[in-house]
Amino acid sequence: MSRDPQAKLSQALHKRSSEGNLRSLTLHQQGIDFYSNDYLGLSRSEALERRIQRLRKKHQGMPRGSTGSRLISGNSRLAEKLETDLAEFHGAEAGLLFSSGYAANSGLIAAVAGIGDSLIMDELIHASSVDGARLSKADKLIFRHNDLDDLSAKLRMAHSSSAGGSVFVVVESLYSMDGDFAPLDDLLALCTQFGAGLIVDEAHTNGITGKQGRGSLAALPTSDSVFARIHTFGKGLGLHGAVILGSKSLREYLINFCRPFIFSTASSHDSLLNIQGAYSLLPELDPQREHLFSLVRRFRELIPGSSHRWLDSSSWIQSLLIPGNQAAVAAAKQLQDQGFLVKAIRTPSVPAGTERVRICLHASNTAREIEALFEALEDPQCVDISLQA
Ligand SMILES: Cc1ncc(COP(=O)(O)O)c(C=O)c1O
Repeated sequence: MSRDPQAKLSQALHKRSSEGNLRSLTLHQQGIDFYSNDYLGLSRSEALERRIQRLRKKHQGMPRGSTGSRLISGNSRLAEKLETDLAEFHGAEAGLLFSSGYAANSGLIAAVAGIGDSLIMDELIHASSVDGARLSKADKLIFRHNDLDDLSAKLRMAHSSSAGGSVFVVVESLYSMDGDFAPLDDLLALCTQFGAGLIVDEAHTNGITGKQGRGSLAALPTSDSVFARIHTFGKGLGLHGAVILGSKSLREYLINFCRPFIFSTASSHDSLLNIQGAYSLLPELDPQREHLFSLVRRFRELIPGSSHRWLDSSSWIQSLLIPGNQAAVAAAKQLQDQGFLVKAIRTPSVPAGTERVRICLHASNTAREIEALFEALEDPQCVDISLQA
């Protein structure tokens, strides 16, 4: 390893490249969107644009930026009202806005789980929660993905080892890589049994599942016993930002102890109006959600006739398994050349041997687009099946 700082960077990049895992930025391409998280197509919705314009008119004269952190100059009636409205919509006592889901997850976990506490996380949890755990001084345990027996064992372990500390279990309602749902009611029952706080990241379900898109927890009668839920706005809402929902004391605690909240400029007023506009539209989006669900059904109907290996998923995130970083990138490239916007998901983002091409479905897709994708996959001139061997 070189002592020269620039040479050190070059060495790391070279290593990445030789592992077939060098990340690089690409510009938005033209084609059929099977890669974005804009599940409801709201990022380009004209109906949403009209709503936002109306809100901008109503709030004319507000400074464009928030001008500071919420604790200094960046608080506003708009932000506080939005938090109250979001908490009410999702059926929580209180909410606190963050400028991204990454800041919300990492900040929340690092703030609530301290020395003497235990964090028990699903092995497929998102990097933002992993990074929160890295910042936290709590003991950390990982349980096998969606495995309630393993979680029970880890809860028992945490109870016997933590001398009076709190225990937190961290899961996602829908896993961003495998596209499978968490058994939230069973998870909540287990956490209640052990007196553990359940933290649920609803990034990939916000706006889509539950009545009017309130999320997966809103469908559970006991959801108010969930310790914290994170709803992000960058996916189903086509925007940016997040809200942490929970008790009033959780909100007050985060205002006092959550570093990304305290030491960062608050979201711009424009951003708050976008979020308000999108939430005002959510109750009207049943047709879009129904269409998205029908696309998922069509996709799953086509899988048995496919000669490829697919992960078992009943959601809008589907994955074509192509083990090996280079093979996954090559398959994605072949599909991109056919006009399908897809991305390879490589290790270390996913475990080695489970590299894949991820297909995200959207209300803006059509059944014909999905059929065309499967046709391309079966056509050896379009995609070389041997890549999947
Ligand atoms: C499950 C999950 N949680 C949190 C995040 C981070 O959210 P944001 O993009 O708003 O920072 C992501 C983003 O990829 C995600 O997939």
